Order: sequence, then structure tokens, then C-alpha cells
Amino acid sequence: MAAQLIEGKKISDEIREEIRVETAALAAKGVIPGLAVVLVGDDPASRVYVGSKEKACGQMGFYSEVHRLPEQTKQEELLALIDKLNAQSTVHGILVQLPLPKHIEEKAVIDAISVDKDVDGFHPISTGNLVIGDDSLLPCTPAGSIELIKRTGIDIAGKHAVVIGRSNIVGKPVAMLLLRENATVTVCHSRTQGMADIAKQADILVVAIGKATAIGAEYVKPGAVVIDVGINRLPDGKLAGDVDFEAVLPIAGYVTPVPGGVGPMTITMLMQNTLKAAKRIHG
Ligand code: GUN
Repeated sequence: MAAQLIEGKKISDEIREEIRVETAALAAKGVIPGLAVVLVGDDPASRVYVGSKEKACGQMGFYSEVHRLPEQTKQEELLALIDKLNAQSTVHGILVQLPLPKHIEEKAVIDAISVDKDVDGFHPISTGNLVIGDDSLLPCTPAGSIELIKRTGIDIAGKHAVVIGRSNIVGKPVAMLLLRENATVTVCHSRTQGMADIAKQADILVVAIGKATAIGAEYVKPGAVVIDVGINRLPDGKLAGDVDFEAVLPIAGYVTPVPGGVGPMTITMLMQNTLKAAKRIHG
């Protein structure tokens, strides 16, 4: 039997509706959640992402401001802007779009964002809180991936979860979130030996390696939940995940499509983090 699709777009729309309702209630008390997005340079993909974030803020009823800075912006200028946004009461969340131009040190910028406004969840203190299990703003793509697993109705506790990929942005935080949900977690990466045999033991398989259709049927246990975080542009212009969707469909129990799986969840989780940050300050 073919796997059930995990419809990220539909789930994302449902969560956005919940956010809109909560935002309206907060607005009635005089609080408007606010997000500041900073884009340095004119990377085309980043421009599109930033535009989508701005649009989503409008749909949620949030206040938003976007700072589009030139490529040659100095690090000190960017840090000065972050200081200003840290102090600005109408802004509850700050997101600096990555990647940054080479002359700007990414770590210095992430470290400068107030932890309370770290809606990307990339600050080292947010990461520490995630590991310890304290309440923190969770990184958006990992949080969205977990939400999609939960919405299948499968209980994560006690399951073997295999994460392929160990990036700071997805692989490592997803592994930590799965551990928090009481899964038994294995992390595979580019140096892992016998990866397909390990992956094939997974009840839950999360793939985030950035290689189009690299994960085929031989990696998937029958009935497994497969979460494909990859979004890769093929030479013909189409999008493909890291998972060979067609090959895995007859084997998996549940699988996310690309596009329309994890992708739509990322901005939704950003909206959720911004609302959470606003509620923390204003109740
Ligand atoms: N660039 C690609 N994805 C992201 C993200 O989730 N946050 C930020 N800040 N930059 C990104």
C-alpha cells in the first residue's frame, strides 16, 4: 500500500489560522506581535524567502519591518541595527537572513540578537536551552518537522528515529527535539558507514543533507514515517527533496512531499515563535 502523504501545506494553513485567532485576541489587549527581518545583499533565494516572511506577517496581523541592506554593509553597521532592534518594543522577533556576505562573521551576528527575540532559535543560549529541555524559541525547520511527525498520530516515544544530516540548523536540533520526545535517536552523516542498514531500522527517518533524491528505497523500513527536509533545485527548474519520493512511496507508511511538506512549516513556525515571544513579554 502506498504511503500516506503528510500534507505540510494543509497542516501549515491550519496552524496559521490558530495563530491568526490568537493574534487577534492579543491585539484586543493592545499587543501586536512584531517581527524584524534583516537581509544583507541581494541573493535571489534570500530575497524570495524574506518576501514570503513579510507576506506571512501581514496575513497573521503582525507588525513587520524589513531592513534590506547593501552587500557592502559593514559588520559594525549590522550589529548596530541589531542593538537598536533588541531595544525596540514594537519588535518581538529578529531574524537575520542567512547566508551573510563573506566579510560578516555569522556567529557574531547571531550572538548579538537578544535571546528573547531569537525567533530563529540559532543563538547559543537557545541551543543550550533546547538541549537541556528548557522552554526556548525552537529553530523553525526542526520544530516544523516534529509537528508533522506528531500530526500523523504516531507516538514518538520509544521509537527509533534516525536523522541523516548533522547541520547546526536542522540535523542536530531535530535529533535533540526527537530525544526530548523520548525517541531513541541515531544521527548519520557523511562519514557514517553502512548508512542504509542503519536508516532501514528507523521507525522515523528525517533526512536533511541537501542532495537531490539521494535517499532511496534501500534506506526505508516498511511503514516508516519519512520526513524530507531537503529542497533542491533540479537542472530542469523543478524542486526535489533529498528523498527519492517515487521510490519510497510504496514502502513508507507516511512521507512528506517536496514541495508542500516541511517547506511551508518553516515560516509558520517562525510566525508561531514571534507570537510566543510577544506573549512572553505581554502575557
Ligand atoms: N536561510 C535559509 N534558511 C534560513 C532560516 O531558517 N533562517 C535564517 N535566518 N536564514 C535562513
